Amino acid sequence: MTSFTPAFIVHGGAWDIPDNEVEGHLAGCRVAAQVGWSILKKGGSALDAVEAAIRSLEDDPAFDAGKGAWLNSAGEVELDAIIMEGATLNNGAVAAMQHVRHPISVARLVMERTTHSLLVGLGAEHFAQAQGISLCDESELLTGQELERWKVIKAQKDFKVEIAFGGSSTPHGTVGAVAIDVNGHLAAGTSTGGTPNKLQGRVGDSPLIGCGCYADDLSAGVSATGWGESIMKVVLGKAVCDFIAQGHTAQVAAEKAIGVLADRAQGLGGVIVIDRSGKIGLAFNTPRMAHAWITDEQVITRAD
Ligand code: GLY
Repeated sequence: MTSFTPAFIVHGGAWDIPDNEVEGHLAGCRVAAQVGWSILKKGGSALDAVEAAIRSLEDDPAFDAGKGAWLNSAGEVELDAIIMEGATLNNGAVAAMQHVRHPISVARLVMERTTHSLLVGLGAEHFAQAQGISLCDESELLTGQELERWKVIKAQKDFKVEIAFGGSSTPHGTVGAVAIDVNGHLAAGTSTGGTPNKLQGRVGDSPLIGCGCYADDLSAGVSATGWGESIMKVVLGKAVCDFIAQGHTAQVAAEKAIGVLADRAQGLGGVIVIDRSGKIGLAFNTPRMAHAWITDEQVITRAD
C-alpha cells in the first residue's frame, strides 16, 4: 500500500481578532497543531489527530469552544461539535449540549457507537454520561471574561450577530481541524459555542454535515468557521469538496467557496482544507482567522 505524507491544519475561528488577542490565538493553534501532528507522525489515524487537537482547543479559553465558549441569551453554555472520516463518510455530531468539556469526543462516540449522526440537548448529555463521560458544572466552562462580554451585549438594544465577525471585537472563535494520515485517509472536525447571545436551542453550521465540516477521501477534508446561518445557506464544507472534485486545487476551492458565501449569502467566515493528495488550502473574508498547519516541509502559524 502506498504510504502518504501526512498533513495537518487547525483553525481557531474567523473574526476580527483584536491585536492584543492575536498571540493567544496563535499559541493555541500552534499547540493544537503539534498535538495532531505528533499523532500523524507516529502513523496514527487522521481521526485520532483531529479529535486530540480539537480537545486541546476546547481546553483553551481563548476560543469559543468547550471552556470559554460564548453564552446564549439565557446565560448558558450550549456546545456543538462534529467529526467525520473520509474513508467511510461516517460522521457523528452533538448540538446544544451542556455540561461537557469535550464535545468533539462525544461526537466521535455518536459516530462509533450509535446508528445516528446527530444528538441534541439533553439527549446528547445523557448519551455522553452513559458512555462514561463525566459531566461538569457550567462554572467549569464559563470564564469571567465571557460573562463580562455577555453582559455588554445584553445591554445593547441593537446587537447584530453578523457584526461580530466583520467589524467589532465581539469574539467568535469556533475551532476546527483537518488531517490526512499515512494511509491517505482524511478526517475533519469542528467544535463551537455558537454565536454570541444565540437563542436557547439555536444550532449553527458547525455540527451539520456538509456545512461546518466535511471529509471524503475522494476529494478533501474541510472545517468551516464564521457566521453559521450564512454558512448553512451555501453548505460551505461540501461546496469546497465539490470544487476540488471538479479539478480545482485546495487553495482555489477554498477561495471559490468563500466567494460563494460572500456573493450568495452575504456571509462571513473561513475554511481550512486538505485535499486527497495532502495539499493545504485556506480562505476567509473576515479580518483575521487564526490557523496553523504542519507538513513535512513547513510549520506555519498565522492569523492573516
Ligand atoms: N460557525 C459557528 C456558528 O455559527 O455557530
